[in-house]
Amino acid sequence: MKYIDFKNIDINDENFNNQDLKIAGNIIKSGGLVLFPTETVYGLGANGLDSSAVKKIYLAKGRSSDNPLILHISDMDMLNEIATNISTIEHKLINAFWPGPFTLILTRTSIVPDIVTAGLDTVGIRMPSNKIANKLISYAGVPIAAPSANISGKPSGTNISDIFYELSNNVDCIIDGGSSEVGLESTVVRVIDGIPTILRPGKVTPEEIRKITKSVKIDEHIFSKFSSNEKVLSPGMKYRHYAPNSKCVLVYSENNSLLVNKILELSNKYNNPLILATTENISSYTDKNLLTINIGHKDNLNEIAKNIFTSLRQVDKLNPDIVFIEGVKQEGLGLAIMNRLIRACEYNYISI
Ligand code: TXA
Ligand code: MG
Repeated sequence: MKYIDFKNIDINDENFNNQDLKIAGNIIKSGGLVLFPTETVYGLGANGLDSSAVKKIYLAKGRSSDNPLILHISDMDMLNEIATNISTIEHKLINAFWPGPFTLILTRTSIVPDIVTAGLDTVGIRMPSNKIANKLISYAGVPIAAPSANISGKPSGTNISDIFYELSNNVDCIIDGGSSEVGLESTVVRVIDGIPTILRPGKVTPEEIRKITKSVKIDEHIFSKFSSNEKVLSPGMKYRHYAPNSKCVLVYSENNSLLVNKILELSNKYNNPLILATTENISSYTDKNLLTINIGHKDNLNEIAKNIFTSLRQVDKLNPDIVFIEGVKQEGLGLAIMNRLIRACEYNYISI
């Protein structure tokens, strides 16, 4: 296994040596698996046009074969190879949000293997802004199929040390690019009857989309469970996700002291509770000798987004008997944060 350490390297520097990335690109092209950084979360990548390479992704993750993958591209020529019938509104979204944390579901062409799309006639496509990801894709010369780097059901990987033991045995190359800038996966959008519909909320918010297209819808399943016979627009949303081993409960109130008091009251009933709390509230819990993890400042949703998956992973190391998580307002980036937290808590949500 090849390990490439780019943690402290400035890839915008003109003296930057691309040799290692060329090797990683060749590993992709010839059917290997590469763990690589993107601006959202780490990806577990393979040649998106090679069915047997893509199959290795499903095996390494233990991912269900009915859950399609996103293809990552580095330029618009690649887009036209894999997608067709792109409408004016879809072009507007592409121009506004690529490269960046935005995935668009488009009609696929016949070169996209069935295994990538789980048999659907659409394919999810994203052009990452992370420079390492972009160069890797262009050296590979093919779209890279990549889900988030984690065993299915676990929180997505946002730094190499969180996922090393879980995935390193099954990959041919690891590119360490430090901590992910955004920390949450991309916004997934499909244009339905001319209206951009958010299937998975992310860094690109509904408000930002509405500015470009005048209209936006949020799929009703973002905060609800699926019943078993429902038709699912984004298969990934129906699975258990992001959940630590311990039972987690999400608690939210617009009134901060109500929120803290509720968590203190609930914690009292347990021997070894753990609280994922905002910086401002930490001392209210530590004063009572409760165990905490700091998820970031209340009014800095970018900081909370960046910390959330790595905090959920720390939970398993502490092995508490229950976890209470402070929620945030479901607005802007808060929509994506709460979507991931509600799933991590398997819909145990108290709103007061
Ligand atoms: O930020 C991201 O999107 C990261 C990085 C690595 O790019 N990738 C990622 O991939 O989160 P993954 O596989 O963990 O999540 C992809 C989501 C899943 O919920 C999947 O069901 C949905 O996108 N998806 C993929 N193709 C789709 C399609 N054709 N139609 C509907 N949903 C699709
Ligand atoms: Mg994922």
